[in-house]
Amino acid sequence: MRTRPLKVALLGCGVVGSEVARIMTTHADDLAARIGAPVELAGVAVRRPSKVREGIDPALITTDATALVERGDIDVVVEVIGGVEPARGLITTAFEHGASVVSANKALLAEDGPALHAAAEKHGRDLYYEAAVAGAIPLVRPLRESLAGDKVNRVLGIVNGTTNFILDRMDTSGAGYSEALDEATALGYAEADPTADVEGFDAAAKAAILAGIAFHTRVGIGEVHREGITEVTAADIASARRMGCTVKLLAICERAADGRSVTARVHPAMIPLSHPLASVREAYNAVFVEAEAAGQLMFYGPGAGGSPTASAVLGDLVAVCRNKLAGTTGPGESAYTRLPVSPTGEVVTRYHISLDVADKPGVLAQVATVFAEQGVSIDTVRQQSRQDPDGEASLVVVTHRALDSALSGTVEALRKLDTVRGVASIMRVEGE
Ligand code: HSE
Repeated sequence: MRTRPLKVALLGCGVVGSEVARIMTTHADDLAARIGAPVELAGVAVRRPSKVREGIDPALITTDATALVERGDIDVVVEVIGGVEPARGLITTAFEHGASVVSANKALLAEDGPALHAAAEKHGRDLYYEAAVAGAIPLVRPLRESLAGDKVNRVLGIVNGTTNFILDRMDTSGAGYSEALDEATALGYAEADPTADVEGFDAAAKAAILAGIAFHTRVGIGEVHREGITEVTAADIASARRMGCTVKLLAICERAADGRSVTARVHPAMIPLSHPLASVREAYNAVFVEAEAAGQLMFYGPGAGGSPTASAVLGDLVAVCRNKLAGTTGPGESAYTRLPVSPTGEVVTRYHISLDVADKPGVLAQVATVFAEQGVSIDTVRQQSRQDPDGEASLVVVTHRALDSALSGTVEALRKLDTVRGVASIMRVEGE
């Protein structure tokens, strides 16, 4: 074993960073044995230096992250700050000064992954980011390495724990969205500003990363169709239940049937209770990968939290340190297929549409005609008169598989009917 330690700079010492530092200390001997050299925490960049950080030598703390990555003697920079800047600048500087990088930063990887990979390659360094997608769950490395000999056609999963917790609460208790969000906030699952999670931004960043790796192409964050869960109602969940389904926020990355393009989307969807993803409860994540030779694979586990995310960071740290000692680097970006990303309009799936309609003769026929004119085939219809003074009824239509663009045309035409008082909700039905 080499006695000279490999030096690690930690950027960020919050929930994840402090766990990374703790495990590096408590498991130092095992990590050294696995790597073939000791790893030493050489500096920790923080915003608030006065905060007490148990187990971390105060002499290592600095507020000057740039100076830390420019030191020139750092072997690996671990970036757990999050957000695009200053993380992007610091990572680029780290490469320029000879360090490899382990990052947990999904927003940055989704926004600027290709440029960061290019910078790593230019300087002969590693860029690893297992923790950026689905926390502790090994997913990036299985896709990048274990499945590198196979052809992945679909990645479908729950990649955001906060929204899964909220939807799970709505499903089990009948609570509305706001009530379930309040509970998630009180229990620490949702942040004070939950926008990134509940509006699907976090899941969309993960979908962009997964689609790029899975299909050996580039998928920009802006190319991921995104819908959050804020519009999901207790009535949607109840309606899903009546169909033997539950509602999940899914990230779906697919290769088109002709293999010439890909799609990536994040939206709430009804999935059958018999589907393995339906049993993913609370804040857990799970991802299905469908590959030509392997068939269906499922990855399941904690997708967030300090300790699970630190596990993924440390796995990367070990891999990067091993590469460094071997004088090599791991796999870089693989985007050779250059498959275009198709708009969501080309996606084919089933839909659950809930309408408020006038309760009078001929309305059902009118509605059915609109579906027929748009080439959308109806699977089931359920109508319930509300017995209210407005003379309205609820109409729930579930379609057979249809083009997303045809469904949009249908909804547009339905909205123009005088007898359709409102389109209460539209939700895709997946996983059948
Ligand atoms: N906020 C994310 C989630 C974890 O709820 O899953 C970090 O990506």
